[in-house]
Amino acid sequence: MLIVQISDTHIVEEDRLVYRAIDANEGLRKAVAKINTMSPQPDCVVCTGDLTNRGRASQYEVFGSIVSDLKAPLFVIPGNHDDTDCLQRSLPDLWRSAEAPHLGFIHDQGQTRLIFLNSTIAGEHHGHIDEERCTWLRAHIEDAPAHVLVFLHHPPFETGIWWMDAIGNSGGQVLESLLAEYNTVRGVFAGHIHRPIVRSFAGTICHVAPSTSHQVALDIRNDDALFMSENHEPAGMLVHVLDQHSGNLTTHIQYTDTYAEVETLKGYVDEHRDELRGQYKVLFRKTHGRDYGDDGNR
Ligand SMILES: [Fe+2]
Ligand SMILES: [Fe+2]
Repeated sequence: MLIVQISDTHIVEEDRLVYRAIDANEGLRKAVAKINTMSPQPDCVVCTGDLTNRGRASQYEVFGSIVSDLKAPLFVIPGNHDDTDCLQRSLPDLWRSAEAPHLGFIHDQGQTRLIFLNSTIAGEHHGHIDEERCTWLRAHIEDAPAHVLVFLHHPPFETGIWWMDAIGNSGGQVLESLLAEYNTVRGVFAGHIHRPIVRSFAGTICHVAPSTSHQVALDIRNDDALFMSENHEPAGMLVHVLDQHSGNLTTHIQYTDTYAEVETLKGYVDEHRDELRGQYKVLFRKTHGRDYGDDGNR
C-alpha cells in the first residue's frame, strides 16, 4: 500500500502570501503536480493538518480548488491553524467526520485501517488526546484488520525544538501507553513541526512530515538565533510504503521542487539503458534470490 503524506499547507486566499512572504498556495500546487507524476499512483494522499493559515471558508475554498487536481483520493485532518467546524462545512468529502468531528474518522483499505484522529483544541495551538478520544481510538484499533496507521496533527512526543514543543501534544504519553498495548499499529504520522523527524514510539515508529510550504529551523539546543526561525529549506512530502504481508513500513522523503539530473550520468544511462537494465535484473536476483516483482503487488 502506497500512501503520500503532505502536511502544513497553510493555504491563504488567492494572490496572498503567508506572513507577507511565503507563497504557500504555490507550495501545494507543486506538491499536487509532483504526486500526479508518480507511477504507480498512491492508494491515497493524506494531509496531516494546518490545511489553511487561518481556518477561513475562503481559504478552504482555495485548498479544495488546488487539490481537486489530484488524481489519487485525499483525506485530511485539522491542525491548530484550522477551524474544525469550518473545515467540516467546507470540505466534508475530505474531513469525513460528520458524526464526530472532534474525534475523527476511519478508512479501511485491504488489510489496513487508516485512523484520522483530531488532536486539536478549539482556540489553542497545542494539542491533546483526552479520554473520549482514547475510547474512540481504542474501539477502532480493536476491530481493525491486520494493520493500523494513525494520523494526527500534533506529534505525540517532544521533538527537542523547545518552542514548538511549547505548543506540542499534552496527550502524547497517554497515546503512547494506549498504542503500546496493541501489536497491529504499523506507524503514527504527524505534522505541525514543519520539518521531517523520525522517532520510535509505542513499539512502532512515528514520522513527522515536512511542510509543503515553509520549514522550521533545526533548533535542538535552544540557540537564541534560531528561536521561532522559519526558512526556505526544501519543501517536501513523505511517501510511505506498507508491506501488507509483513506489516513493515518503508518511508521515503520526496522534495516538491524538481532538480536537474546529472547530465553525464543521464547521457550514459540513455545510451546503455537496455543493457544496464538486464545487468541490474541479474544483480537483483543474485542479491535477493528472486526476480524483481516476484513478491506480488504489495
Ligand atoms: Fe503548521
Ligand atoms: Fe500546527
